[in-house]
Amino acid sequence: MPAPTLAPPPDQALILRGLGVDAARFVVEVVAECASTNDSIRTTDIAPDTALHVLIAHRQTAGRGRRGRSWESVQGQSLTFSCAWRLPNDASAPVALPLTVGLALAEAIESLGVSQLTLKWPNDVLLDGRKVAGILVEVTGSQTQRKAIIGIGLNLLRTHEYPLPDGATALSDHLPTAPEPETVLATILLRLDARLADHRKGGFTALREAWQQRDAFAGRQVSIRGDDIEHLGVCEGVADDGALLLRTGQTTTRILSGDVSLRAAT
Ligand code: BTN
Repeated sequence: MPAPTLAPPPDQALILRGLGVDAARFVVEVVAECASTNDSIRTTDIAPDTALHVLIAHRQTAGRGRRGRSWESVQGQSLTFSCAWRLPNDASAPVALPLTVGLALAEAIESLGVSQLTLKWPNDVLLDGRKVAGILVEVTGSQTQRKAIIGIGLNLLRTHEYPLPDGATALSDHLPTAPEPETVLATILLRLDARLADHRKGGFTALREAWQQRDAFAGRQVSIRGDDIEHLGVCEGVADDGALLLRTGQTTTRILSGDVSLRAAT
């Protein structure tokens, strides 16, 4: 797919400026192209005094989404980046980490002047009910030093040349002027750093209420498709460990992975 000619890659110096006094907590790299930022950052060592090591790609040639799907994006039209974060040593299966990341993303985007941000379990950010950002969290590293690779794809612009997929939206649909990528990135990184620090201190428990206030599907009939099973029920929020709580009749089931969609009323 040919790229629009206008957009230059995000400017690393402007991102660092946007991070202000906290810039020293981050390492920020910008590359013109890579296959997938999640794959490229996988072997990066996080320096001891770095909170988040960030890799931003202007263009991804093999971007990956959840559950083995591909993530298509057009350079300049979206942000594609990954952050390497040291996992707390006691974090077993970090099911809740994508929820913390989604919350941080929603809060950051809201602070740019956009409202109607909600969260779709486990890791989509919705704007006015449409997907504006997706998150792919993967865990890697040795048993003693594990790290989370937090991949984020965010739709910045809608253009005539490259329309967004059905059910998707872009920040530019909701703002009077197109957002500067560097401002958006710095805003997200600062909020992500703050929410990850909360997560490191107290796990997802302390963030659960804030997540549930943005839950797009709370109290709604949904269908959840896992690898080889479909659950039907009503969303009852999330547990402290990030599991989705689904009520079917008198039973509440804990769901740890799957795709949620609204179930048509019968
Ligand atoms: C999803 O909604 O399925 C998750 C999409 C995650 C896409 C981002 S783009 C940056 C990072 N690199 C990848 O290959 N994927 C993530």
